[in-house]
Amino acid sequence: MSAIRDPFSILGIETSCDETAAAVVANGVAVLSSVVSSQIDLHARFGGVVPEIASRAHLELLTPVVAEAMVESGLDRQGIDAVAATVGPGLAGSLLVGLSAAKALAYVWRVPFIAVNHLEAHLYAAFLEEPDLDLPVVVLLVSGGHTLLVAMHAHGEYQLLGTTVDDAAGEAFDKVARFLDLGYPGGPAIDRVATTGNPEAIPFPRPMLTEGYDFSFSGLKTAVINYVRAHPDAAVDDVAASFQQAVVDVLISKARLAATDVGAKGLCLAGGVAANSRLREQALDACMADGLRPFVPSPSSCTDNAAMVAAAAWWRFRADGPSPLDTGADPNLRLGAG
Ligand code: KG4
Ligand code: ZN
Repeated sequence: MSAIRDPFSILGIETSCDETAAAVVANGVAVLSSVVSSQIDLHARFGGVVPEIASRAHLELLTPVVAEAMVESGLDRQGIDAVAATVGPGLAGSLLVGLSAAKALAYVWRVPFIAVNHLEAHLYAAFLEEPDLDLPVVVLLVSGGHTLLVAMHAHGEYQLLGTTVDDAAGEAFDKVARFLDLGYPGGPAIDRVATTGNPEAIPFPRPMLTEGYDFSFSGLKTAVINYVRAHPDAAVDDVAASFQQAVVDVLISKARLAATDVGAKGLCLAGGVAANSRLREQALDACMADGLRPFVPSPSSCTDNAAMVAAAAWWRFRADGPSPLDTGADPNLRLGAG
């Protein structure tokens, strides 16, 4: 590839689910601006994301969010060297809004367009804050739609070790919180309520704890529901803390095993559930005990944002160059599929 401008500033756009976000990041590491507009209030009364409402809201919010990201970055359009957007996985209608906007901007500004995998973007949230990677690292990518254990051997080189056989970790948090009437999104609500609870109060199952790298959370969710129905007077904070501890135990135990098997130098947390305070605490303890370097992004970098999209785009662009302007949204895109 011909020489690229230094610094190389990328405008990133994220609209895969219910956050409308735009950010400008230089050379994959320097965040010049990062704006996230959450649609939580629009979806909360339905107890989950309503795809049609999400795509309409992205349409309304994207232009002001991009404008704010540009103003905050201190750059004008001549300062933008490429425009990137999430192409998948995610909600088809929502992805299309950000993708179409990014391609249109790239076309009129005559700069490259870069298509970004949302899962790879989550992973780069950790490296935005700690750019000098110690490879290989084991990545625990836990969000509302995904639970992946991945060995990262080089930039863009991923080995999928395990995934969930049913619900994603975030989905389990959301469903249990909904059952406990704690509101939406459930993860932050359980995290908050659990602070006053006893994590050892109720011995919930640790599903598939000793069975390889795959996860299962659906049975745990059912165990919580059955327990609360049988013990209507159970303290909600104890239930929340005990459920959270069961999830964290399984996640951390498998991540540690993977790190040993792979000979990893570090352990990286990514995705919305990585904002969980108990998971973060125990990941740091595990790293200390096992001599691993922790890559634990700040909570606001774990949940959906566009700085991670612009960061991942920088590495994608250096490896593969620009993406074609006829790139379509791919709601089921997998990690490692480009
Ligand atoms: O990565 P993300 O923002 O969106 C997806 O790509 O899915 O993740 C959202 C998920 C939701 O399930 C939410 O409940 C969960 O991350 N989450 C948390 C916490 N903050 C967000 N789960 C547990 N503890 C938290 N503090
Ligand atoms: Zn996400």
